[in-house]
Amino acid sequence: MTLKEYLANRVEIVERTLHTWVPAETVEPEVIHRAMRYSLFAGGKRIRPVLCMAAGDVIQPGADGIADAAVTLEMIHTYSLIHDDLPALDNDDLRRGQPTNHKVFGEAMAILAGDSLLTLAFQVLGSLQHVSAEVRSQLVVELASASGTVRGMIGGQVHDIEGEGMQPNAALLEKIHRAKTGALLRASVRMGAIYAGANAEQLAALSEYGEHTGLAFQIVDDILDIEESSEALGKTAGKDLYQQKITFPAVYGLAESKRMAEEERQKAHAALAPFGDRATRLIEIADLIVDRKS
Ligand code: IPE
Ligand code: IPE
Ligand code: MG
Ligand code: MG
Ligand code: MG
Repeated sequence: MTLKEYLANRVEIVERTLHTWVPAETVEPEVIHRAMRYSLFAGGKRIRPVLCMAAGDVIQPGADGIADAAVTLEMIHTYSLIHDDLPALDNDDLRRGQPTNHKVFGEAMAILAGDSLLTLAFQVLGSLQHVSAEVRSQLVVELASASGTVRGMIGGQVHDIEGEGMQPNAALLEKIHRAKTGALLRASVRMGAIYAGANAEQLAALSEYGEHTGLAFQIVDDILDIEESSEALGKTAGKDLYQQKITFPAVYGLAESKRMAEEERQKAHAALAPFGDRATRLIEIADLIVDRKS
């Protein structure tokens, strides 16, 4: 299977699995289910659940039910995007090529749609059928801590918002990026590994891979914000400069940022050495993260 075919197949599994968990638009109260589905099925890249399943495959190919665990990452991610776009945060009008959730459903429903995706993620993890209670609880802790305030997504968002308008600052930059985006990417890889029964050594190697791809992901997001159009990105380009965000290009310039993304790619590859050929897909996904144009 080519990488393109593989990704199409995995994205299809993710879409199908999400549909089974998110209540239909006809379920009362209809509006919240419409709002959740509006953002969830707007065509995201699904990189987090894909990473989760690909990491699982390194340990135990085709682990039963892993897609259910994988889609919880997409639920958390989509909630974080809905809230990131709110007027009180980045105040964005465009997401995944469509008007943002609050533009269509209003701020109250957008806040609640985010809350409900967050809640649903943990309902799904708690309902997993094919793993032990111990693995279920490890997955819950993993997802909650990566989404939380201490070096997790919310913590990163706090630093990101507080950093607006501040002098570019390398230490703060590193803190923001590792937390707001890196933590959930790293957890994506770790959750796949934990689900599939990785031992401590395997988990450590995959965590290292997740850490570097996670940082690379946000460096590239910052570069694309400058180099690509809103049309290509499906979200407002040029936003970071306008909002005086602490970004890699703001601190290091574009050329050095690209070199740093490259360095993270190499480190991500190197972390996979113990797995040999079994990790080919993960190598390709790290490349995709660095080479992507949207
Ligand atoms: C965008 O994430 C927000 C960041 C964390 C940088 P993605 O680039 O994965 O967005 P989608 O899911 O494809 O829309
Ligand atoms: C978003 O970072 C991170 C989270 C949503 C947690 P950005 O604010 O850079 O994401 P985009 O560029 O709006 O997608
Ligand atoms: Mg933001
Ligand atoms: Mg934003
Ligand atoms: Mg961005």
